[in-house]
Amino acid sequence: TIKACLFDLDGVLVDTAVYHFKAWRQLAQTLGIDFTEHDNERLKGVSRVRSLEIILEIGGQTMEQEKMLALCEQKNTEYLLDVAKMTPAEILPGVVDFLKALKAEGIKIALGSASKNAQLILERTELLPYFDAIIDGRHVVNGKPDPEVFLKGAEALGVHPEECVVFEDAVAGVEAAKNGNMLCVGVGQPEVLTLADIVVKDLTEMTIERLHALEQKA
Ligand code: G6P
Ligand code: MG
Repeated sequence: TIKACLFDLDGVLVDTAVYHFKAWRQLAQTLGIDFTEHDNERLKGVSRVRSLEIILEIGGQTMEQEKMLALCEQKNTEYLLDVAKMTPAEILPGVVDFLKALKAEGIKIALGSASKNAQLILERTELLPYFDAIIDGRHVVNGKPDPEVFLKGAEALGVHPEECVVFEDAVAGVEAAKNGNMLCVGVGQPEVLTLADIVVKDLTEMTIERLHALEQKA
């Protein structure tokens, strides 16, 4: 039986992808790299430093570790200017109703995000009180598609991986869920999230009934 739901943050609960893109694009410009919205798909779900590596790959550039860390810092400072202005209005459709339904059902809720800013974003959007556990970029060594972030979430909640459903918008995140032997609801396009058990456009399409219907797939 399903005992817990583990949520990715960016692109599932809130739409911070636009702010990430804005900050990375600005930084890429200073490096003379043309970084497009299409390229940005590759950054979803991956860590900050890995994101910079991908941008450098796109521009055919290499860089010393130290310089990279400094640029990551710089990008994050820009990004945080937008995060500081976030409000609950930026919570994606259906999120609050579904979290409330899970609570009423006694299903545990955890966050599984690559972001080191996850806690801050949950605070800004007032989503923090819904979460029984938060595992984010500060707690993991291996990024998605490694299942570490979700396995640590299950552990923190005291449930088995097979009792968890992961909600993910990134290909790497869906892979992480599957690598962790968990059920997965893709949030986005079915053509992109092919490994997910079901795919929804957003959480307005999720109900407790649909959640339990996933058990047949386990
Ligand atoms: C999420 C986003 C990624 C981002 C990562 C790290 O997974 O989807 O695009 O790179 O978090 O975020 P951070 O806030 O630590 O820079
Ligand atoms: Mg995401």
